[in-house]
Amino acid sequence: MPSIKDIMQTMEYGPAPESNSEVRAWLDQRAAGLGHFINGKFTAPGDDLIEVVNPATEEVMGRVPKGSTADVDAAVRAARAALPKWAALSGFERARYLYAIARHIQKRERFFAVLETMDNGKTIRETRDIDIPLVARHFYHHAGWAELVDDEFPDHMPVGVCGQIIPWNFPLLMLAWKVAPALAAGNTVVLKPADLTPMTACAFAELLMEIGLPAGVVNIVHGDGETGAAIAGHADIDKVAFTGSTDVGRVIRRQIAGSGKKLSLELGGKSPFIVLEDADLDGAVEGVVDAIWFNQGEVCCAGSRILVQEGVARRFFEKLAQRMKTLRVGDPLDKTMDIGAVVSKKQLSRIKALLETGKAEGATLNVAPVELPKRGAFCAPGFFTGTASSHTVSQVEIFGPVATTQTFRTLGEAVTLANDTRYGLAASVWSENVNRAIELAARVKAGVVWINGTNMFDAAAPFGGYRESGFGREGGRSGMLEYLALPADRKGKPRPAPALVPQVQPFTGKADLPEIDITAKLYIGGKQARPDGGQSYTVIGKSGQAIGQAGLANRKDVRNAVEAAGKATGWGGVTGHNRAQVLYYLAENLSQRRAEFAAALAASGASPKAEEEVELTIRRAFWYAAQADKFDGAVTATKSRHVTMTVNEPFGTMGIVAPDEAPLLSLLSLILPAIALGNRVVAVASQSHPLIAARLYQVLETSDIPGGVVNLLTGERDVLARTLAEHDDVAALWYCGSEEGAAMVEAASAGNLKSTWSDYGKLRDWRDPKQGQGREFLRRACQVKTIWLPYGE
Ligand code: NAI
Ligand code: MG
Repeated sequence: MPSIKDIMQTMEYGPAPESNSEVRAWLDQRAAGLGHFINGKFTAPGDDLIEVVNPATEEVMGRVPKGSTADVDAAVRAARAALPKWAALSGFERARYLYAIARHIQKRERFFAVLETMDNGKTIRETRDIDIPLVARHFYHHAGWAELVDDEFPDHMPVGVCGQIIPWNFPLLMLAWKVAPALAAGNTVVLKPADLTPMTACAFAELLMEIGLPAGVVNIVHGDGETGAAIAGHADIDKVAFTGSTDVGRVIRRQIAGSGKKLSLELGGKSPFIVLEDADLDGAVEGVVDAIWFNQGEVCCAGSRILVQEGVARRFFEKLAQRMKTLRVGDPLDKTMDIGAVVSKKQLSRIKALLETGKAEGATLNVAPVELPKRGAFCAPGFFTGTASSHTVSQVEIFGPVATTQTFRTLGEAVTLANDTRYGLAASVWSENVNRAIELAARVKAGVVWINGTNMFDAAAPFGGYRESGFGREGGRSGMLEYLALPADRKGKPRPAPALVPQVQPFTGKADLPEIDITAKLYIGGKQARPDGGQSYTVIGKSGQAIGQAGLANRKDVRNAVEAAGKATGWGGVTGHNRAQVLYYLAENLSQRRAEFAAALAASGASPKAEEEVELTIRRAFWYAAQADKFDGAVTATKSRHVTMTVNEPFGTMGIVAPDEAPLLSLLSLILPAIALGNRVVAVASQSHPLIAARLYQVLETSDIPGGVVNLLTGERDVLARTLAEHDDVAALWYCGSEEGAAMVEAASAGNLKSTWSDYGKLRDWRDPKQGQGREFLRRACQVKTIWLPYGE
């Protein structure tokens, strides 16, 4: 034993283990295995058990069953049975349960922290100071939403039974992020923890029994990917919420395509950590510690790509190397450790394989000079230098404590590098100049941006990704909306198939054509364009006679239109006031041509009340003009001394597929909210009544809508919809067609995980503002970016 004098000399840390005797006793009592938690009771564990390993000691600490389809079925049945009563409780009554959960988590904070550390390998410092306090905060916050749900979300109702699948990197915190909003909104839940880390979910189930949560409201089924797939695919699940890898997110998107299940995906990331030369470099170095060495780097939003401005790069990397030397890796229950064990030996070999790939591709790996424990899944922290964007390690999630680095010269270059990834979960920006920091925050494609900080979370701050990091938000008001539904989403008779199937052969029937032949073209990049295939189709009017020809767009036309939309980037940058003016102008121009549009609608046979449809379209343009500068984000109360802003950002290019019914009103009911918020659209007009769209070209041209902001195509709905769904430069897609078409669109959208919105082939009454207009359209036309800005010294 070293003397105090020796210790004062060396300043070495002594061991400071957190006691785990209570947790061990708890585990010993459950050594035979823990069952699923279904309908308020634990099932018998059975024989098909998964061994739960403490990755720091390699000891088996418990056993849980692998859920079968029968188990999933029982859990879903329990959740379904519990739903009516739970949903019918007053907000106050549900709030009382959530409050009790929060209080009990707090009372068992130490127990949960120790258990989580043993199961996952993360340090006690983190479970004690971050994971478990955030869990309690999440239940408190959502006790509040339960209380307020009727006041704050009028007309909304619970989605129903929610299937929730979570990963192993923040086991109890991810459970809280899923369960709290679901219960607050009146849903019931079937949740699957990760098979690597099921223990705190078991303890949570016991806590639910303790507080007397009604049976069946929360059900927990253990198991691996197969069990997860059984939950996602279960016919009686109304919503799937998933956090995990992008690959599995894609599998689930395809699996449930067309089912009508609501879906939120929180997936992987390769988040940039941007250091400008005017940054507080020491602060930024500490930032890296929290960005990539926090939680062993097993963080979906880890700052895993460090981008440093050239002038300070050398100094920064030197400081980083120095700081890295002081990191302590070892027993996660030791209170002085910075880094614990990664979650499993398998994950460790995955990390190591990627590090080898990085070296083989020419990068230099700088590793902390630490001595790793002999046993357990420990990985030395480090960072690569000499990495380029093309390197595997710059593109793929390492999900371990190692970052890549690159340098840049200008702000523009930083933006380009930051966005040079398929992901878009988070970003950190370091600069003492608030103008530059906010400019970067605005230009980075990410759902969360931390300025002079990193990995900050709060229950009130929406969290979630852009692009292939998924869609949907967790936390705050946006998070609640993921667990609420509108009655309009359920109504409606099935939509009939389009009356008109495009025919390109000469038409031999009767014609009622204008004196001088009009050839409707497509509208791409602000110009009328001949269809690429050089084909048109005959449009049939009210009395079965040909009334004209419309352009028959093909895949190439879709690609041209997406390209034109991609160039019209200015639209997202103009003020809401500017966009409002343009929409008012559009209404004005439509108003001047009322008679012409009414006559065309009447001739098409699509609209029994043609004049009314034109009038309602003009009103709709007014409504979205009004919203263009009012559908705002918010400043949210999160941590002290932080301004946390939520900004409603446009997606970029959106695809829109309009239905046959009310062909003018429905088309503009879809286009207007999208462009009001700054998106560019490629819209496919009604297949059967395309000539209405063709008449819009001139209105668009005279309304000061910049070229490329609205592109209109006519032709075969589902051929064009598929190309839009598959296109990587289309970020969101709204589809109003058939049920099968919706399934096709959702499956095809899995490539870049675009956000989709579909009515699953159900008719909407577009004249009714409750169905055809509203904040829901605006909400679906933007993605929330959460920007954290600290203040004070
Ligand atoms: P994973 O995505 O396979 O696992 C996450 C959860 O999904 C687990 O509960 C798992 O049982 C479940 N699951 C797996 N396949 C499923 C399916 N077909 N249907 C429904 N549920 C399914 O992640 P894994 O394999 O544990 O880790 C591999 C890599 O994924 C990591 O190295 C990391 O790069 C990434 N990852 C990202 C996470 C994030 O939060 N963004 C979390 C976990 C992993
Ligand atoms: Mg484990």
